[in-house]
Amino acid sequence: MDVTIFSTKAYDRRFLDEANAAAGGPHRLRYLEARLARESAPLGQGAAAVCVFVNDVLDRPVLEVLAASGTRMVALRSAGFNNVDLAAAAQLGIVVGRVPAYSPDSIAEHTVALILALNRNIQRAYARVREGNFALEGLLGFDLKGRTAGIVGTGNIGVAVARILAGFGCRVLAYDPRPSAELAAFGAQAVGLDRLLAEADIVSLLCPLAPDTHHMIDRAALARMKRGVLLINSGHGALVDTAALIEGLKSGAIGHLGLDVYEEEGGLFFEDLSNQIIRDDVFARLLTFPNVLVTGHQAFCTAEALAVIAATTVENLSSSERQGAPRYPVSVERLVRPAINRTPKGSSL
Ligand code: NAI
Repeated sequence: MDVTIFSTKAYDRRFLDEANAAAGGPHRLRYLEARLARESAPLGQGAAAVCVFVNDVLDRPVLEVLAASGTRMVALRSAGFNNVDLAAAAQLGIVVGRVPAYSPDSIAEHTVALILALNRNIQRAYARVREGNFALEGLLGFDLKGRTAGIVGTGNIGVAVARILAGFGCRVLAYDPRPSAELAAFGAQAVGLDRLLAEADIVSLLCPLAPDTHHMIDRAALARMKRGVLLINSGHGALVDTAALIEGLKSGAIGHLGLDVYEEEGGLFFEDLSNQIIRDDVFARLLTFPNVLVTGHQAFCTAEALAVIAATTVENLSSSERQGAPRYPVSVERLVRPAINRTPKGSSL
């Protein structure tokens, strides 16, 4: 199958080439660095399948261009699919496949790395020591043992975070409309979102982006949280209202903030912009806080995760070619989400 692969870096090419070779080389892979968007959609021309990542845009106009030039399949190299207009894809006869799970531990461990780095001010300590400043003033941390950690979304990754934090001796609270049965094994307790926000010293967001989770951490949610909370978002950028977070940091409502994802990360993350001026003032403001640590959507970036992403992508392509449907399809029905005890907000799908 001819496949045009958008948003690729050297590490993507390496793992996809290896996975394709391991499957006997069934696909002709054409790599592009460009992100898929309206301007770049014609680059997909002639490919039966296009393969994309989290910041590629597959709205109706893009899908129409792809469909008109013969594309019948979209292979997402991600679990999330909020960047695809699934209804338009279905109408245009394009099937969509995704990678439902790839080393949840890689994202869970990065989430915990952010917690530990922030809690013990490692980023500040690193910079100080390199300058010969060994003073401890301003580096006061707190023990994780005995603290309450709240995990919002306990799917594959959230459960792994819960397990690790339980190992540190945290009391773990979890909120999920479909709580995982695995939580009880390490003493984590399923609770409502209000209780979690009220009691947690650490809050970790690991649920998908959907109409009911868009900006779920906004000014009102922050007001319900413990003052000085350590908040981590490694789920999806738009789970939080960044302007409200900045207010919360300025007022001290948020004690530490760790982000691996950012609502406007497209065009910023995954690129070397070190010679350029960052034009996003909200993002630039975030970077001025000493108690904020941002990584550029890096949580998935382990050899284990990239190998699974590549192997599953090749499996989706092969299954699509042979049976007309990817091994792990995403269908329009997945847009229907369970009702939960929150007021629905604007859609970001
Ligand atoms: P999953 O599908 O296994 O679990 C998601 C869980 O969220 C499910 O249990 C679901 O019931 C729950 N959920 C749905 N709506 C909710 C709500 N309103 N409140 C609380 N929970 C809700 O997904 P997985 O693999 O655990 O991924 C979690 C998130 O991590 C994904 O949304 C994805 O965007 C993000 N992710 C981030 C990566 C990174 O590199 N930073 C890489 C991979 C995933």
